Amino acid sequence: MKFELTEEHLMIQKAARDFAQNELLPGVIERDNTETFPAEQVKMLGELGFMGMMVDPKYGGSGMDTISYVLAMEELSKVDASASVVVSVNNSLVCWGLEKFGTEEQKQKYLVPLAKGEIIGAFCLSEPEAGSDATSQKTTAIDKGDHYLLNGTKNWITNGNSASVYLVIAQTDIEKGHRGINCLIVERDMDGFVVGKKEEKMGIRGSDTHSLMFTDVVVPKENRLGEDGFGFKFAMKVLSGGRIGIAAQALGIASGAYELALQYSKERKAFGKTISDHQAIAFKLADMATDIEAARLMVLRSAWLKDQGLPFDRESAMAKLYASSVAMKHTTEAVQIHGGYGFVKEYHVERLMRDAKITQIYEGTSEIQKLVISRDILND
Ligand code: CAA
Repeated sequence: MKFELTEEHLMIQKAARDFAQNELLPGVIERDNTETFPAEQVKMLGELGFMGMMVDPKYGGSGMDTISYVLAMEELSKVDASASVVVSVNNSLVCWGLEKFGTEEQKQKYLVPLAKGEIIGAFCLSEPEAGSDATSQKTTAIDKGDHYLLNGTKNWITNGNSASVYLVIAQTDIEKGHRGINCLIVERDMDGFVVGKKEEKMGIRGSDTHSLMFTDVVVPKENRLGEDGFGFKFAMKVLSGGRIGIAAQALGIASGAYELALQYSKERKAFGKTISDHQAIAFKLADMATDIEAARLMVLRSAWLKDQGLPFDRESAMAKLYASSVAMKHTTEAVQIHGGYGFVKEYHVERLMRDAKITQIYEGTSEIQKLVISRDILND
């Protein structure tokens, strides 16, 4: 067992860290205040190869491993979780799903521009009445021979307005339950597809989260991903990998808040000494550092399992469950360490605390992670 990153890993980590400091940090408070999508920054991330990190270079990707991806996700998320969720959805859900399960034609047409970051993708599973209970799809994709007729509404879709390609989960045959669900590749300009309301959110306010409406959208048969009825399993497999990215995002939010709290505690004086010299604060820092290190090991291990081609469903759910709880707990502690300054926007930690909450909700709530883990343990 080697707990060592390679030279290449360290280079990618540094590149992501530099990008976060130089390109994301300067406008992050403003974008959060004004709910502005980091369009310029996402374009640059694409040019640097961060939008299709794990995709084979022959499809326009960077050909890196999942370890590199989580290292980059942590660094970007330390500074701007709104930008990093765009990276995460594009890499983990959309590009990985297309590369693993798409046809050669689908890869050439959609994966190549997505992996190069020329366009952005979205993953559309959640519905007004199907969040955790993802088999209860009300969106329908009726088989019309050479095409599907798509009707329904999706909710809380990340990249809802900025995407050009949407992977849409829909029910084709209700009689078959989850085995009658398909995943269709929908293009932004298909007739009958309308991007709906933008959500005003507590956190990750720079990312654009929308509802989507589909009315008699004609989707060619060749846009179905996988065999007929594979859509639900496709979604589960993709989400299982996606949870590694969100776990890394949660880790980044936690470690970003910790680094700010550590620095602040060494500068701020109270009762004649720096607050880090008070045991009340020093012990908080010790707890933060310990929990973050444990989360990091879980994230790296689940990424490593995926890279080895070994099962990772349980470990990715565990990593997400743990890292998101660490993010929530320790961003709150970081605000506490900052005192009054922590409550104002200029010091960043209040934003990280707001951003942390979504990591316990999207790509499966903490309760869903416990369901996945317990089922896996009990079926062993
Ligand atoms: N890999 C492959 N197949 C899987 C699987 C996996 N990881 N998990 C489940 N399946 C298969 C099962 O084997 C089963 O197939 P068979 O009947 O052929 O054996 C089928 O899928 C149905 O599985 P279950 O019976 O376990 O289904 P369920 O309804 O009891 O529970 C669930 C499934 C785990 C609760 C699932 O609904 C789930 O993960 N829900 C949460 C959904 C979610 O994460 N939503 C997030 C939205 S996307 C998002 O947030 C993106 C973003 O914007 C950032």
